[in-house]
Amino acid sequence: MSSTVLLLPGDGIGPDVLASARRILDVVRPDIEYSTCDVGLTALESTGKPYPSDLVARARAADAVLFGAVGGEQYLEVPWDLRPEAALFALRQGLDLFANLRPIRSISALLHRSAIRPDLAEGVDLLIVRELVGGAYFGAKGIRDDGTAFDTFEYSRESVARVVRAAFRLARNRNARVTSVDKANILRTSQLWRKVAGEIAMEFPEATLEHLLVDNASLQLLMRPRSFDVVVTENLFGDILSDSTAAVVGGLGMLPSASLGSAGPGLFEPVHGSAPDIAGQGIANPFAAILTAAMLLRYGLQDRDNATRIERAVGAALDSGSRTPDLGGTATTDDATEAVVSALAST
Ligand code: IPM
Ligand code: MG
Repeated sequence: MSSTVLLLPGDGIGPDVLASARRILDVVRPDIEYSTCDVGLTALESTGKPYPSDLVARARAADAVLFGAVGGEQYLEVPWDLRPEAALFALRQGLDLFANLRPIRSISALLHRSAIRPDLAEGVDLLIVRELVGGAYFGAKGIRDDGTAFDTFEYSRESVARVVRAAFRLARNRNARVTSVDKANILRTSQLWRKVAGEIAMEFPEATLEHLLVDNASLQLLMRPRSFDVVVTENLFGDILSDSTAAVVGGLGMLPSASLGSAGPGLFEPVHGSAPDIAGQGIANPFAAILTAAMLLRYGLQDRDNATRIERAVGAALDSGSRTPDLGGTATTDDATEAVVSALAST
């Protein structure tokens, strides 16, 4: 039976970069079948809702979901459930995508673009595993009569255990070193997190576990990024650390991500946003979306060989000098995509 992928191009440059990802998937896996659905502003404008009510059901019917980007400038005042991001949250929650994988790998051809010294950025290959359906994002929140606002940070034992276990499993195929990041000197949830992480580590005697406080981790990830392998942390800490650590590769334009649950399809999306200022101009950087397609093959369709082929081809395209304007070059989205296609032909 052939695999099916639900495409959610979304807004801004989302459709541009998903077209590139699709072009690459068509080369390596012509057997995949696709369906498409509008989300974000694009859906809001045509239907009055940021996503169709059967979105989660449609996602469940697919083997994987490939997401572009959502959002624009004109919506900041709309109620929460009408915001374009609502589609993303519906999928994260509806598919129980608790493990968000954000690999940060330095690219030799782009070392000069790193925000840190090239000698520190060289050879970095780390994986942030961010808990994605708990913590302050999903805890009780509100505004009291006196105007005080609150967001509740909550974690159950099981919600910590499952994401830490996912991190250890991923570490098995890497360097078997897990760093758990928390704020255990202050937060009760972090004390629980640290305790449970220690217990789960016992299930993986071949791996090592270190604990870091989040403030220190934000510094160490930039001072000695090469020394990290798998970094596992709660939702909000992971949101912040994944953006700040992106400085190692010089920004978000190159970074893919995967959000996985325990069963059912994963959601695969580039880490960058919808960049409405350059939408439709044909100059968006497609590499993050193409690397996201590689993650979809590896974690969504269990096709490691083609995932690795795509990753090597992106490296080769960059080595050959292909650079979109955000990387300081003049290549269009199509030029950069075709550079990857040519590199695939020679691997
Ligand atoms: C991310 C984004 C989202 C998040 C936003 C768009 C709500 O920053 O995926 O990192 O905070 O999770
Ligand atoms: Mg973020």
